[in-house]
Amino acid sequence: MNRLSFLGKRGNLVHVTTAGQGKPLVLLHGFPLDHRQWMAQLESLSADYHVIAPDLRGFGRSALNEPDYSMADLADDVEQVRMHLVASGPIALCGLSMGGYVALEYWRGHSDRLSALILANTKPDADSEPARASRQEMINQARQHGSWQAVSGMLPKLLTDVHRNVPGPILSCVEQMMRECSVEAVVAAQQAMSHRADFIPLLPTLQVPTLVITGEHDPIAPPEATRKWAAVLPHSHCHVIPDAAHLTPLEVPATFNRLVSQFLAE
Ligand code: MLT
Repeated sequence: MNRLSFLGKRGNLVHVTTAGQGKPLVLLHGFPLDHRQWMAQLESLSADYHVIAPDLRGFGRSALNEPDYSMADLADDVEQVRMHLVASGPIALCGLSMGGYVALEYWRGHSDRLSALILANTKPDADSEPARASRQEMINQARQHGSWQAVSGMLPKLLTDVHRNVPGPILSCVEQMMRECSVEAVVAAQQAMSHRADFIPLLPTLQVPTLVITGEHDPIAPPEATRKWAAVLPHSHCHVIPDAAHLTPLEVPATFNRLVSQFLAE
């Protein structure tokens, strides 16, 4: 595995973990996580692909120079990563949850650079008013009590009981990522997500082959809603993975990797 950092737009230090050789596959993590959520993909999919897992602004080892950014800014960071690490040709882009919001912005801004899109445990619509209010609540909590206090309540949504109640490598990896994220990173990401665009009207125009994945027990991207919006995409497959919640690449890595490999091979 290789780790490298480079200066992105506006002087932001972007940290990227890569593994393997072959066609580029870029993996975008969810909130409040970092590239470590993709360890099983960096290890396994790297047998066939050049796997590239950036830390999004403020997470992992990437810097947060400015408190205000948008999902489109993060998509521009991804384009910087592509320009640094991919000699030529398009990328396959996989985003989980917040990473999926960024992936949709990347499609909107850079569709000529995309060969395939994987939208995992995510949703294309903008926040409702109650969703914005609960983001504000998380921001207040983070400012008053610290980031762990603000984000730890997400754990039951991220992992199924079997992984959340039994100490093991999955739970400790997720807890570690959550504990290490700063108040500033939580605030900036929550604000950016609350202002994200509504992609529902654009879905029928998404011509890139797309794989949509969610977990049977994902309360953030529930199966029924996911199947509904995925059906509007012109070229998509939708899979609901049993026995998984929000973090499908960590909870059921073998199934996740098989779906991605099969899709990309097609
Ligand atoms: C994520 O997993 O990235 C977040 O739950 C996304 C969100 O808060 O909308």
